[in-house]
Amino acid sequence: MRVIKHILHYGFERLESGFDAVFSPAWNPLYQLGALGWFYYWIVVASGIYLYIFFDTGVTQAYESVERLTHAQWYAGGVVRSLHRYASDALVIMVLVHLVREFAMDRLRGPRSFAWLTGVPLLWLLYASGISGYWVVWDKLAQYVAIATTEWLDTLPFFGEPIARNFLDASTLSGRFFTLLVFIHIAVPLIMLFLMWVHIHRHAHPRVNPPRGLAIGTLAMMVVLSLAKPALSQGPADLETVPAVVHLDWFYLPLYPLLDRYPGISLWIGLALATILLLALPWIPPRRRRPVAVVDLPNCNGCGRCAADCPFHAITMSARSDALAFQHEAVVNGDLCVSCGICAGACPTSTPFRRRSELVPGIDLPELTVAELRERTVSAAGRLTDEPRVVVYGCEAGPELAELEGAGVAVVKLACIAQLPPAFVDFVLSRRHAEGVFLTGCRAGDCLYRLGIRWTEQRIAGERDPYLRRRVPRERLVWFWAGLDRQRALGREVDAFRARLAQAAPAHGARPQPRAEPALKEAGSRG
Ligand code: HEM
Ligand code: SF4
Ligand code: SF4
Repeated sequence: MRVIKHILHYGFERLESGFDAVFSPAWNPLYQLGALGWFYYWIVVASGIYLYIFFDTGVTQAYESVERLTHAQWYAGGVVRSLHRYASDALVIMVLVHLVREFAMDRLRGPRSFAWLTGVPLLWLLYASGISGYWVVWDKLAQYVAIATTEWLDTLPFFGEPIARNFLDASTLSGRFFTLLVFIHIAVPLIMLFLMWVHIHRHAHPRVNPPRGLAIGTLAMMVVLSLAKPALSQGPADLETVPAVVHLDWFYLPLYPLLDRYPGISLWIGLALATILLLALPWIPPRRRRPVAVVDLPNCNGCGRCAADCPFHAITMSARSDALAFQHEAVVNGDLCVSCGICAGACPTSTPFRRRSELVPGIDLPELTVAELRERTVSAAGRLTDEPRVVVYGCEAGPELAELEGAGVAVVKLACIAQLPPAFVDFVLSRRHAEGVFLTGCRAGDCLYRLGIRWTEQRIAGERDPYLRRRVPRERLVWFWAGLDRQRALGREVDAFRARLAQAAPAHGARPQPRAEPALKEAGSRG
């Protein structure tokens, strides 16, 4: 499983590099799949409401009303009908690619399994919405789909009366039953909307709106497609005859040809097994749960920055439970914490300058504490012999960092790049541990922990607390969001950075000497 994931991950990153070049990272649709899904959903809803206004739900009038809409009103109703079809198809593509990508990027384990587990029923609802949409037009394709679906449902042992009997001939198909089909087509997407909301409700700042340019571009493409190849009906349904040829929509109806070949019940069993496998994927193979973030109350002043930066709503601010004179304290919900360390990077007490007291921040990651991070930084930088010396901070999910190590380059790995409190950059440069700091990690726009790159850039730019102090010379700090497939480019960027540093004026006078850490007296730099 790990190998499959790795190959898929690498494959996606190659594809994303190509898309980055065409669309730019900000508009790369592969980073916006969930947001595009929401966007397509809203197009389907808006176009569906318009169609419903002109749609006649009577079994004998439905076909006529759709034909009138398509031909007499081709410039509006016709385009809207086609948009409804194409946005629904686009939603299927988006959801399937989104599913494979989340699997490839391994964003389905531990607390993150919640989004995966709520995504699986979304798939069923999506298909139920799409298939029921083909019934209501009541053309030959609708007749085929309705009869095939009900016969298929009848192979399940749940229904007393065969549902397919409703379609024996025109006299058995009651208006009431047809209205029920229309109702299903409206109700299922509404249930889907509720589940889409549940799907993302554990995400802080979920991406539900694609960038405006991407949204307008995809909508414009769909309008052009609607004009060039409008969605049309396939002749009125006639229950006295069996439709000889129907053109299937391969996005929603790929299983229907199989119903002619295999018993319906075997297809149900296949689908049930596929669903069970999907639901089990977050636990295959089982993975050790990493220790979650821990709050140290005596060092927590209740500022709330950790809660504001946590990408998974794992921190809440509660009323103070100790005697300290603060109103709030941070509380970690271990069931939601993915051990990314972003909270430790956000805490104002995570400062490497602290020497008067032990370096214990208000919140920390037991697997790599801020104190350990400082130890690793100091010892890795201490081994550097070639000037200009550069400390590279990178995340575990990004490119292989060991390959960068050398006499002039030290490497320190973190869970996520936003685990690094910005004060560390100041610390490395002002304490003369190195002449340059280089940050790297996942590719731009696609942080494994969703918000790590965004928060890091905002902290450096001074737009988000804790911000990087103004006194830090910005020319001595560089970041490059490499991802897995840009290992060589990363090496070149680090070399180029060192070359620039070599040409620049010496950072600390003639011969930079690292300050001996135990002698440090300064306390509490706020980054
Ligand atoms: C209508 C269909 C769907 C929509 C609109 C949708 C939308 C979204 C959105 C907006 C996000 C949050 C992206 C972010 O801000 O980081 C997301 C995350 C996710 N979705 Fe979906 N999704 C859909 C279906 C599915 C399906 C079918 C699966 C898989 C079975 C799935 C699995 C996931 C996972 C694993 C995440 C990431 C969770 C994480 O980052 O921890 N989604 N989805
Ligand atoms: S950021 Fe630090 S000090 Fe602020 S609430 Fe969180 S743990 Fe407490
Ligand atoms: S480690 Fe990450 S998920 Fe856990 S509380 Fe901190 S920021 Fe939230």
